[in-house]
Amino acid sequence: MSLISLPTPDYYDYTWSAIASVTVEDRFAIITWADGVELRAFDLWLRENAVDAGGVDLSTREHLIDPADLNESIRVDKAIVTGDGALEVRFAPDDAVAMYHPGWLRHVADGNFRTESWLPELEPWDAASLPTPSTYDGSTILDNEEIFHDWLTDLVRYGLVRLENCPLDENFTYDLVSRLGAIRDTNFGPVWDVRADIELAGAADTNSTANTNLRLGPHTDLPTRETPPGFQFLHCVRNEAQGGNSTMADGAAVVAALEAEHPEHYEALTTLNWVFANRGPGIDHRWTGPFIDLGVDGSPLTLRAFYPVRGFPDMAPEDMPRAYAAMRCFSQMADSDRFKISSPFRPGDLVGFDNRRVLHGRDAFESGGHRHLRGTYIDHDEVRSSMRVANRRRSLT
Ligand SMILES: [Fe+2]
Repeated sequence: MSLISLPTPDYYDYTWSAIASVTVEDRFAIITWADGVELRAFDLWLRENAVDAGGVDLSTREHLIDPADLNESIRVDKAIVTGDGALEVRFAPDDAVAMYHPGWLRHVADGNFRTESWLPELEPWDAASLPTPSTYDGSTILDNEEIFHDWLTDLVRYGLVRLENCPLDENFTYDLVSRLGAIRDTNFGPVWDVRADIELAGAADTNSTANTNLRLGPHTDLPTRETPPGFQFLHCVRNEAQGGNSTMADGAAVVAALEAEHPEHYEALTTLNWVFANRGPGIDHRWTGPFIDLGVDGSPLTLRAFYPVRGFPDMAPEDMPRAYAAMRCFSQMADSDRFKISSPFRPGDLVGFDNRRVLHGRDAFESGGHRHLRGTYIDHDEVRSSMRVANRRRSLT
């Protein structure tokens, strides 16, 4: 076996990044590269990742050793750098020998195993820094890898991106978004319609404010779920209505401004809980959480900002006045010219946005006409996975 094809604990390709030296100190192998980068590799972690010493299954590239069997007596007995710059480790007490791809070790040293790696850095924006969404040509996106990659990068970075000149095919949203992974289905179906016929506005045969001609204030969809859909896409296939501009505001920027300028409101919105509920025949979706849900450290921001389904304050009565005052402040900021941008929906336009970060809304329709959007959701996991795969591949070319 040539060293270049040395198997790794995963299926990725790694640039061969020869190790300069290795020493063993206490329970760590100290691995160093010529540019000074160092990795302190713990003995039991090395053993778990020993592809050729029983740590990793070659067919699945998943770990094999139950923690209960990770013998406390396992030690790195000897570690050397091979002539090609790979790492070779002999373990005590069983004399098992394992080889490690130096490129795989280097990706660990560089932190590229972390959740945020291979993803663009998130960039908060306001109406001054992003007056219009980044816009790409939708007519060729399904066939043009460069456009698709740039569109995807901006979707993750800004949480908002737009296509124009998309086909008016009602399946286009599905065809595009399903390239990123599994569609997030909901009780509205995998792909749903936002359809308003002005003659029917206000009629009772709709289960959503979206299907009327009413204004929709800045909001995020489905806060009634434990994990609301990560991204939302809306494709305009027909629009004869006047007005009804699409509005967007970056919730990440609004939250940062709120924390700096109104810390008491920030505290209220990040700690006081509400019960959100989707009520309808045959469904009873509920989730309890704060308006600004920060999750655990490292979680993406989740704004639970949709007044039509914000059901009940789940807090002490004395907290309710400050809860409402804080929401009023947040919502006024999100709806202000400082943060909100507005664009018309033309047939062939498709907007994609981070449904947990970006607050979307719609102006009221001012006069008659048909308006038909096709929408779908997909979770953050799928979009980020696609982005990592694409950026990893590009790093090798
Ligand atoms: Fe919505």
